[in-house]
Amino acid sequence: MTVVVTRSIPEAGLEKLRSLHDVRLCDFGTEPVTEEMLIEAGREAEALLTLLSDPVTARVMDGCPRLKVIAQYAVGYDNIDLEAARERGIVVTHTPGVLTDATADLAFALLLGAARRIVEADRFVREGRFKRWETDALLGLELRGRTLGIVGMGRIGEAMARRALGFGMQIIYHNRRRANWTTERILGARLVTFDELLAESDVISIHSSLNPASRGLFDAAAFEKMRRHAILINTARGPIVDEAALVAALEQGQIAGAGLDVFEEEPRVHPGLLASDRVVLAPHLGSATVETRTRMAEMCAEAIAAALSASADVPYRLV
Ligand code: GLV
Ligand code: GLV
Repeated sequence: MTVVVTRSIPEAGLEKLRSLHDVRLCDFGTEPVTEEMLIEAGREAEALLTLLSDPVTARVMDGCPRLKVIAQYAVGYDNIDLEAARERGIVVTHTPGVLTDATADLAFALLLGAARRIVEADRFVREGRFKRWETDALLGLELRGRTLGIVGMGRIGEAMARRALGFGMQIIYHNRRRANWTTERILGARLVTFDELLAESDVISIHSSLNPASRGLFDAAAFEKMRRHAILINTARGPIVDEAALVAALEQGQIAGAGLDVFEEEPRVHPGLLASDRVVLAPHLGSATVETRTRMAEMCAEAIAAALSASADVPYRLV
């Protein structure tokens, strides 16, 4: 059968697929992938291995009539119309769990980077401005005793909270559901309303999925309620933050800084963010460790292999 892979993935996954099926790697270049491009590539495919940037709509599914399985190379799946897949009997899988620690590591790296102004400091040294030790150059925020507000206490939110605990931070969180008792006890985490979280946090880290309630959650009104020394970290989904409002909040000193791995219209980044010294930027690197990306490739391959062998037991299944 034919497996279409929309962008090359680590060899570990491809090897397994090649041993079972005809694997076709797309060469989409750097242009944004469109529905037409996916249909053209997947016309004959029984399986599609997709990225977050691939719009897997009902139209694409209809244009790929032999499709039995879509394996998403990500934990998130806001690019896939799950309902349409369900209606057409197409299996959809993703890569849950494996990228939890890698993403929390990156969120913490952005937190430290923004709090201690690492990117500004690096630039300072490279530009030859390090003339003598200064008592007041590049002062940052000390983490011990500070409050970390976590928006979305799923696996990644919890992993972030565990890291923060090691740095002597206190944890509050906002989530649709209360975290279980053990989690609350181990992390000492307190459930608060969104407004309380905005008002009390020194650092806020976003770990929720993109859904109607989270889209645009961090808007001008939210930034007004944050502390002036606060730092915002986003490794979840760009559209949870209104970037124009964030730029305005940074310019007006409503908040002190931000660490961003995701953007409203990736790969485009708001020019106001590019211009700001107090923002640390990364190109969606949450899962970007050798270990995690290899495991993600293997998981996609396992899922496709199972689905195409008509196994009743497809791992990592969403639909
Ligand atoms: C990355 O953003 C993912 O959802 O895996
Ligand atoms: C992802 O692994 C999450 O549930 O946070």
